[in-house]
Amino acid sequence: MCGIIGYSGSEADAINVILEGLEKLEYRGYDSAGIAFLDGNKIIIEKKEGKLQNLKEHLKDVATKSNLGIGHTRWATHGVPTDRNSHPHYSENKDVVLVHNGIIENYQELKNDLLTSGVKFSSDTDSEVVAQLFSKLFDGDLLSTLNKVIEKIRGSYALAIIHKDFPNKMICCKNHSPLIVGLGAKQNFVASDVSAVLKYTKDVIFLEDGDKVIVEQDKVEIFDKDNKSIERKINKIEWNFEQATKGGYEHFMIKEIEEQPEIIEKTLNIYTDKNFDIKFDEQLEGINFQNIDRIYIVACGTAYYAGLQGQYFMKKILGIDIFTDIASEFRYNEPIITDRTLAIFVSQSGETFDTLMSMKYAKEKGAKTLAISNVLGSTLTREADNVIYTLAGPEISVASTKAYSSQVLVLYLLSLYIGLKFEKIQEKEYVSLIKDITKLKTNIEKIIENKNTIYEIAKIIKDTQNGFYLGRGIDEKIAREGSLKMKEINYIHTESLPAGELKHGSIALIENGVLVVVISTDLEMDEKTVSNIKEVKARGAYVVGVAKKGSLVSEAADKYIEIEDSGLLLTPLTAAIVLQYLAYYTAYAKGYDMDKPRNLAKSVTVE
Ligand code: F6R
Repeated sequence: MCGIIGYSGSEADAINVILEGLEKLEYRGYDSAGIAFLDGNKIIIEKKEGKLQNLKEHLKDVATKSNLGIGHTRWATHGVPTDRNSHPHYSENKDVVLVHNGIIENYQELKNDLLTSGVKFSSDTDSEVVAQLFSKLFDGDLLSTLNKVIEKIRGSYALAIIHKDFPNKMICCKNHSPLIVGLGAKQNFVASDVSAVLKYTKDVIFLEDGDKVIVEQDKVEIFDKDNKSIERKINKIEWNFEQATKGGYEHFMIKEIEEQPEIIEKTLNIYTDKNFDIKFDEQLEGINFQNIDRIYIVACGTAYYAGLQGQYFMKKILGIDIFTDIASEFRYNEPIITDRTLAIFVSQSGETFDTLMSMKYAKEKGAKTLAISNVLGSTLTREADNVIYTLAGPEISVASTKAYSSQVLVLYLLSLYIGLKFEKIQEKEYVSLIKDITKLKTNIEKIIENKNTIYEIAKIIKDTQNGFYLGRGIDEKIAREGSLKMKEINYIHTESLPAGELKHGSIALIENGVLVVVISTDLEMDEKTVSNIKEVKARGAYVVGVAKKGSLVSEAADKYIEIEDSGLLLTPLTAAIVLQYLAYYTAYAKGYDMDKPRNLAKSVTVE
C-alpha cells in the first residue's frame, strides 16, 4: 500500500512525470498525495490530503519545471490522513526529503531517541523518522549514510530520498516493499510498480531486498546488501501504456470487466496448443506430482475465492482432498506440511504481505511452492519455486475483476494438466472440458451484450442496506465473491451463505425489502435452491436470481438474469461476471467512485 515514484532526467518535467505516475499508482492508496522537487537548489514540497486530484488542483498554477523529484500516494497506517501526515516527509532542517512505502516497525523507539536529542517532528508518521535519522547521520556520502540508516531501521520499506547537497541524484532502497527502476535515455525512474513508468520506458529492473540504488539522469548504480556494485537483469515489459488507461471507458472497473473475453482467449492461446495440450511443462518444471500427497491453495480476498474454485476443480478432477486457506490464517492453522506438499499461492499483485509470509512459512516447512500471479517480477514470483502468470494485464480498479477470472482459469488449466498427466481424466472428457473455455468466452460476451438488464436491476436495489448472497456447491464460492464485490464498492452490508444454511439462524434478518441474490448454475440442486428462495420470499425478501437456462429460479425470483451453459465447472464463473456488473452498476447508480472505494488499497502490503 502507498505508491512511490521518483524521476531524474532532462527529457521531461519531473513534476509532470510524477503526477502522471501517481495517477497510475493511486490504486495503492488515495488518502493523500504529495510531491517534492528541486527548484534550483531549493527543495519544494507540496502535499494534500485526499485524492490526487486535490494535489493537482493545488499545483495547477505552479509554472516551475524540474529535473529531479519524488512523489507519493498514501494509504494511511501511522497517523490520520491529513496534509501534515502526507508524504514527502523532510528532516527538521529540510535538507533531506523522502517518500516511503511500508512500515518502520521500530519507529517509536527511534523517534524517542531523536526527540531526546532535541529533534522536532512535524508529523505522526513512522516515515518521518527515517528522514530525521538520515539527516542526523549524514556524513557527506549518500550511500554510506543510507547504510547507517538501514542498520537502525526495522520493517518494510521502499524509500526514495533526495538530499539538498546532491541536486542531481536520488538514493533509494527496498526491503519487503516493491521497487522497480525504469531505464530511459537521459532519464531514469523508480516506482512501486511498472505501470507508473510505462509511458516512458519498457526497460525495467526489479530490485531485490537489500538493494540500494543511486539514480541520476544518465546513470543508475545498484549496490546489493553487501554493498557490492552489481548489475541486475533488465526486463522488457510487455504491458503497454494504453492497457493502463481507461481507453474511452468511464471507469477502469467496467473496462476491466469487459476485457475478460479477450483475456480468456489470450490465456487459451498462450497456454494451450492446437491439439488442446496445456503448455505448463516449463512453468511446473521440477515438481514431481507423483511425489505430492497434499495440495494447499492459499490467498486473500478475491484471490482466495478464486482459490476455492480451484480447490473444487482439483478435487473433482483429481479425486483427492485439496485444502484452501486464507493467507492471514494459514500460518496459525498448523497446516500439515512436508516435502510432499505442494503449496499454491494466488495473488494478482504478488505483493500481498500475508500471502508472502504464508509462502515463506510453507517453504521453511519443506513444501514446493507455486505462485499464480499477474505481475511479472513481483516478490511472490521471485520467491516461489515455480510460477504461472495470469495474463490479465494491468488491473487498476481496486476491486478485482479480470484478475479473478484469470486466476480461476489458470487453476482450471492446472487441474486439467495434472489430471491428464496422471490419468485421472480420460482424453475425451479432457477435450470437452478444454472446449468449455471457448463457450465461457462466448457466454461472457453475451452477458456484456445484455448488460443493460443488469443496470436496470442495479437501479432498483441501489438503496438496499443489507443483503444475502446464496448458492450451493461451487455457486456458494461465487456467492462469496459477488457479496465481496457489492460490499467493497457500495458500502452495502452483504453476507454470503450456503443456500441451505440460511435457515439455521441468519434467516432471522430477513424482512421486507432485504436483498437476496441467489446463484444457481447446477440444475441438479436447483429445486432445493428454489425452496430456499420461497422461504425468504415468504418473509418479504427481494430476490435477484442469477441462474442457468432451464433453472426454476426464473419463476421464483423477483428479477432474474439468465446465463448460458459453459459446462458444470465454468458456468459459475459466468455468474460471477454478472455479479461484477451488478456491483459496478449499483455503484454507478449511487454515483460512487467504484475504482477507488473508501478505506481500501489494491495491494495490501501490511499484516
Ligand atoms: C477484492 C480484492 C482483494 C484482493 C486481495 C488479494 O476485489 O481485490 O480482495 O483480491 O487483497 O490481493 P492480491 O491478489 O493482489 O494478493
